[in-house]
Amino acid sequence: MSDDDERSSIANSWFWSLCCRVLKAGHIPKHAAFIMDGNRRFAKKMQYERQQGHVLGFEKLAETLDWCLHLGIKEVTVYAFSVDNFKRSKEEVEGLMELARQKFSQVLQKREFIMKHGIRVRVLGDHSLLPKDVLEQVARVVTMSRDNNNAFLNVCFAYSSQHEMTEAVKRMATGIEEGLLQPSDITEDLLEQCLYTEDSPPPDLLIRTSGEVRLSDFLLWQSSYSCLSFQDVLWPEFSVWNLFSAILQYQKNYKSISEAKATFLTQRRNNQLEVDRNYLLQNDTSLAHPHELDTKISELEHTREKRQREFLAHLHHKQQTYLESFVH
Ligand code: IPE
Ligand code: IPE
Ligand code: MG
Repeated sequence: MSDDDERSSIANSWFWSLCCRVLKAGHIPKHAAFIMDGNRRFAKKMQYERQQGHVLGFEKLAETLDWCLHLGIKEVTVYAFSVDNFKRSKEEVEGLMELARQKFSQVLQKREFIMKHGIRVRVLGDHSLLPKDVLEQVARVVTMSRDNNNAFLNVCFAYSSQHEMTEAVKRMATGIEEGLLQPSDITEDLLEQCLYTEDSPPPDLLIRTSGEVRLSDFLLWQSSYSCLSFQDVLWPEFSVWNLFSAILQYQKNYKSISEAKATFLTQRRNNQLEVDRNYLLQNDTSLAHPHELDTKISELEHTREKRQREFLAHLHHKQQTYLESFVH
């Protein structure tokens, strides 16, 4: 490192710490999501091989996770590989799977660090679409860290939102077939819990790089009230300043987003109450007086929540057993 480089890196780190402190005086997103887009365009721009673009993309992810941890962002969800990405050339898909093998194996080697910092790594997507050896690594990573709860890294891999919602509906339909659920147990809250993201909170901030201003089937359900930040840089070029600028955008919009989200949640609850009221009025013949309605609604809610809890525990157990069967 030359003297100039060293001076500029010291200046940067001093300035960096100052920026972190200023940002931390405001609201820091608890959960940030990233659509890491633009690896191939970056490779082309730099006249590298396409695979090198993906290699640099994975390196950028490690760097970004460090920044997030430093800033106190406890949960990060990244779009690493979509269901649609399987349609790319065989060579590119195999290149990306090979990178995934290397990265998951590095995660397994960092066991001590992961356990010490209480990091839970989840891999969200349709695991059945993955090559068997990648699935075995996924199973080991997920199982190893499943009891950690200090920080969360969710890797969306073989993921797409419409696929996720369709799977959630299928899970609930199976629950009805198996007699664990009744049709009236299907609520927005339950569907949300049946998504791959389960009880993970929705992202506060969603960043997409590469200048494209679409979601490409990523977290469509979960991002209804996220602050969306579209950045013009290609993913391997993403810098801490881009992250700072997205957080500033989040802070600027914090009040309006929080208010809209609170209103939405109240409305969701009121809508469900309305559905329950109408259901009881039409179906409950034992309802003699309208003033009994509130008690009946509470009873209905109580029994429904109990069934939903048991169903979700059953689902969770089934998924855990499936993954465990790939851990040797
Ligand atoms: C994102 O970069 C990484 C993956 C989809 C795996 P792309 O590969 O989509 O690169 P661009 O967007 O074509 O430049
Ligand atoms: C989205 O990027 C998927 C990931 C970043 C993994 P794509 O490049 O696949 O999406 P489109 O094709 O531009 O919509
Ligand atoms: Mg792309």
